[in-house]
Amino acid sequence: MSASLATVSYIGATILFILSLGGLSNPESSRRGNVYGIIGMTIAVLATILGPRVSGGGIAWIIMAMAIGGSVGLYAARKVQMTQMPELVALMHSLVGLAACTVGFASYIDPSIEFTGAEKTIHEVEIYLGILIGAVTFSGSVIAFGKLSGKIGGKPMLLPGRHWMNLVGLLLVIWLCREFLHAETIGGGAVPLVLMTFIALLFGVHMVMAIGGADMPVVVSMLNSYSGWAAAATGFMLSNDLLIVTGALVGSSGAILSYIMCRAMNRNFISVIAGGFGTGGGEAAKPGEQPAGEVTPISAVETAELLLEAKNVIIVPGYGMAVAQAQHTVYEITSHLRAKGINVRFGIHPVAGRMPGHMNVLLAEAKVPYDIVMEMDELNDDFPNTDVAIVIGANDIVNPAAQEDPTSPIAGMPVLEVWKAKTSIVMKRSMASGYAGVDNPLFYKENNRMLFGDAKKMLEEVLVAIMA
Ligand code: TAP
Repeated sequence: MSASLATVSYIGATILFILSLGGLSNPESSRRGNVYGIIGMTIAVLATILGPRVSGGGIAWIIMAMAIGGSVGLYAARKVQMTQMPELVALMHSLVGLAACTVGFASYIDPSIEFTGAEKTIHEVEIYLGILIGAVTFSGSVIAFGKLSGKIGGKPMLLPGRHWMNLVGLLLVIWLCREFLHAETIGGGAVPLVLMTFIALLFGVHMVMAIGGADMPVVVSMLNSYSGWAAAATGFMLSNDLLIVTGALVGSSGAILSYIMCRAMNRNFISVIAGGFGTGGGEAAKPGEQPAGEVTPISAVETAELLLEAKNVIIVPGYGMAVAQAQHTVYEITSHLRAKGINVRFGIHPVAGRMPGHMNVLLAEAKVPYDIVMEMDELNDDFPNTDVAIVIGANDIVNPAAQEDPTSPIAGMPVLEVWKAKTSIVMKRSMASGYAGVDNPLFYKENNRMLFGDAKKMLEEVLVAIMA
């Protein structure tokens, strides 16, 4: 393939990546967005392999590597559960970081690259930054994977003087950069480069270890952004325009996503990165510390009766619906109620579940029509006119303490105001707290009922009672 054809292919791939990101912003166009992304990536890979920079003998190695990597990727993607997706994403980011590091070192020792003067300095800065960002992304993502998969505890590790340690690390990295750029020989530059890599790896571990379980999804999205910048830096090293553009797209979209998540949790981005919040998922709140009281249980049959008597119903799904894989039963119930003329809508909190769009993906998979799936802001004012608000495996996102208790760890987080409905029904297995580890006063409200049990099992019972 000629150089100009490769360039045209790169431009085509860039356009397809931008269209892909645009498509992914909406559930209705997300499939199309994915298709654009797949076509764009296929063009990019083909144009790179067949392009002028790969010689005949190299192709066999590339195809071998692609076959191994592709098979591992295919196996992992087929095997992974929807609830394990954030872990898989974290692991994939670590590979991008590792790739940036190895390309950086290879670029440094590549004897065919013979820059002099300003060009040499620019190339070395690219190498230094690429390895720096790559190493932080690599070790940070490995720790994030460990925390999300429960292999490492979710509690933040707060070392004394940790901010000072980070500052010293930063100053060392700047000093090593100066030494690297002023080194006379390859060997002279290698020492500061290796030392910096070591510090960057430690920094990545320290940064993510200090962040609590509740903030991990934000960290994954932040690492996604880092992996994009690492890829962009690799693009500069290799003078590959497509890699620069793609890296910048991933880097900036990851940063925007982190910001949106922080806003939805009413958390300050800097305070998330500084760490210390969140104690790990699913622990029961300590007795006596939080409001406690009597809860009123309800049976599946009574739930079905309330639903059939209602005119307006709002369903609020959360992480538990994903765990129970209850979305198909939810769809069945919704169809039956709608067939009886009952207005059923879904209220989706921006951070419901464990990753952005988690609930939308599950509901779309179960074929719930998009037009009844609403964002939190679209229907939060409608709860007072709602007969039954049914909460399926959600906890933090419907916790009134966010509004009522300024001392709560989730104070200020926007929540779905289900308690304003005539009756709210919370479906979960126990009184355990949600991801943020705080108790939920909703459970004790007079108009609230608790339907205890696995969401799928209980919904199946509700469905049978509705159809009876
Ligand atoms: P959570 O607050 O984690 O609550 C989920 C509830 O589901 C738990 O209380 C659990 O109670 C219940 N559950 C688990 N398995 C179940 C099953 N098989 N059947 C029935 N219930 C089950 O979830 P949420 O309300 O969706 O809130 C999301 C949390 O994640 C928030 O704290 C949010 O800040 C955090 N977070 C999310 C994101 C993104 S991007 N989504 C990002 C950052 C943070 P039992 O154990 O009693 O059943």
